[in-house]
Amino acid sequence: MLRRKSIVKLAEDECLPEVQRILRERLSQKSVQTQVYGLDSQRRHLLDLMRRCVSMGESNSALVIGPRGSGKTMLLQSVLDEVKSDKIAKENLLQVNLNGLLQTDDRIALKEITRQLQLENTLGDKVFGSFAATLAFLLEALKSGDKTSQPILFVLDEFDLFAHHKNQTLLYNLFDISQSAQTPIAVIGLTCRLDVIELLEKRVKSRFSHRQIHIFSSLTFEEYKEVFVEILSLPKTFPERKFMQQWNQHVKELSEETMTVDVLQRLYHSDKNIRALKSFLLLPVCKLTPDHCQLESTDFLESSQYLTMDSKAAMLHEYQKFVQRKGHSIQCYEKPVVLKAFEHLQALELLKPADGGQRSQKEYRPMTLLVDATQINDALQKYPNCPTEVKQWNTQEVHA
Ligand SMILES: Nc1ncnc2c1ncn2[C@@H]1O[C@H](COP(=O)(O)OP(=O)(O)OP(=O)(O)O)[C@@H](O)[C@H]1O
Ligand SMILES: [Mg+2]
Repeated sequence: MLRRKSIVKLAEDECLPEVQRILRERLSQKSVQTQVYGLDSQRRHLLDLMRRCVSMGESNSALVIGPRGSGKTMLLQSVLDEVKSDKIAKENLLQVNLNGLLQTDDRIALKEITRQLQLENTLGDKVFGSFAATLAFLLEALKSGDKTSQPILFVLDEFDLFAHHKNQTLLYNLFDISQSAQTPIAVIGLTCRLDVIELLEKRVKSRFSHRQIHIFSSLTFEEYKEVFVEILSLPKTFPERKFMQQWNQHVKELSEETMTVDVLQRLYHSDKNIRALKSFLLLPVCKLTPDHCQLESTDFLESSQYLTMDSKAAMLHEYQKFVQRKGHSIQCYEKPVVLKAFEHLQALELLKPADGGQRSQKEYRPMTLLVDATQINDALQKYPNCPTEVKQWNTQEVHA
């Protein structure tokens, strides 16, 4: 029995680094996500659009709209992976990735387009009269030497930020080209702003296809729990088959434990997107060590407490612990003492409620100070045996 146990332990010790590597990679935002949970119709829509552009040379434009972390980037990536699984399509498709946070004006954007299309030398020192002329020259340059022009995909991440560029020149030109048949281009904008269309100028709006793909998590709790299990399960290709089966069985059982279900339910109701689920799982996965080689439901509880922690309350708690330690001069008073002193200040009419006498709870009532800083300073100067802390507080406040 003892011998068997030690063999299992040995296997665990050897497998654990590999388990962590797989799970951490899956949880990291950088991981190439092949598995898309939910979002079937949105995926089909985008795939159809991309296929028509790549194989039939159809130009198009679309906006993918959804809250942060809802999977916009991941969805587009997964669609592109599928489109590019065809070798010819992969070689044929040109892609330009722009991001509103990086290309903050259209001049920078144009430079980036030139760079990504590797046309710096072609452009050289040529000077054009307008943005449109430069862009047209670049796209024309791609055609030369080949009769059929290559499809170009423009991905505009943080799309709404491009709407703040002067005259929305880039957007206007891209949408304009996508409507004229010269070069097959697809313009895909990703944004978390629901009202993005309202940001577009009339002439830009009229050239946009008005295709909008809305992304929102429609997972039920049961599906959400399945995603939880899938994210934490080891792949069938894991080298130690027995270990993999045991691990996956354990994860499945964990997902049924009351404590885990409670924690997951809370998370699901506050934010059911998968990015949030992944960051919630990161701590339990990172806590795996040879001495703690299985995930436990308490790990999930701890992680949820971290995520929902009120940072201000936590800081005040730390501060309270600090001032209660002996050996320094900071004074700490009980709450009733402080409140009584505060009422005293009110009775002296140094403070008065700022809410016009509404009967709100006294701890949360907005107050107006009826004396100014110089008056406080003067009073403290005259006050005999004034505690050093108060004097120090006064000088700091005055200097601040
Ligand atoms: N439906 C989903 N299926 C699988 N993974 C998902 C899904 N939704 C989100 N994710 C995961 O959540 C993470 C965030 O997704 P992504 O980066 O695509 O969000 P986003 O909508 O582009 O967010 P942002 O607005 O911040 O750019 C990724 O790790 C992704 O794998
Ligand atoms: Mg994104």
